[in-house]
Amino acid sequence: MKRTMIVAGTILLGAGAVMAQQEIAVQQDNLMRAIAKNQYGVIQKMTKGDIPFDKKAADQAIASIEADVAKIAKTFEVNPKQDVVDATYGASQKVWQNKADFDSKIPPVQKAIADVKGKIKDVASLKAAYTAINDRCSDCHETYRVKLK
Ligand code: HEC
Repeated sequence: MKRTMIVAGTILLGAGAVMAQQEIAVQQDNLMRAIAKNQYGVIQKMTKGDIPFDKKAADQAIASIEADVAKIAKTFEVNPKQDVVDATYGASQKVWQNKADFDSKIPPVQKAIADVKGKIKDVASLKAAYTAINDRCSDCHETYRVKLK
């Protein structure tokens, strides 16, 4: 009886660890989604004319991206060793094999943001900002993001 209980306890602990890891993967994914909401849901849509140009909203989106990008290194500190259930994108294991290089992809995004911050005045300048920022996002995704489906 005692032995059965220990085994059951171990299984429970195992399930807890799996849940915690899924939670970490979800946090990492949520951070990227939050960044994307501003980059694609606001900035890109304005550059395409899908939503009207609004300087204040554009500035806010850039500020939010800036705040979120600053969280990438810490949010990706732990390797969840699993993908978010049903996700389209996942993190490559290379992130944790070469965390220093992964982290080195962050300052260029921050520099691109700093370069355009406060300079958005029309759709043309927003378009330039969008491209400058997005190219730096892609530099990290190229190596460290994997398409799952
Ligand atoms: C230092 C590396 C790095 C940088 C910089 C980075 N990302 Fe990511 N991004 C990742 C990784 C790794 C994933 C895959 C894991 C995930 O989704 O959590 C990802 C996933 C994504 C996804 C897919 C989310 C989903 O599951 O639907 C989007 C969208 C995204 N990033 C947008 C951006 C944008 C926009 C920027 C730039 C402002 C950016 N990322 C900057 C590493 C980075």
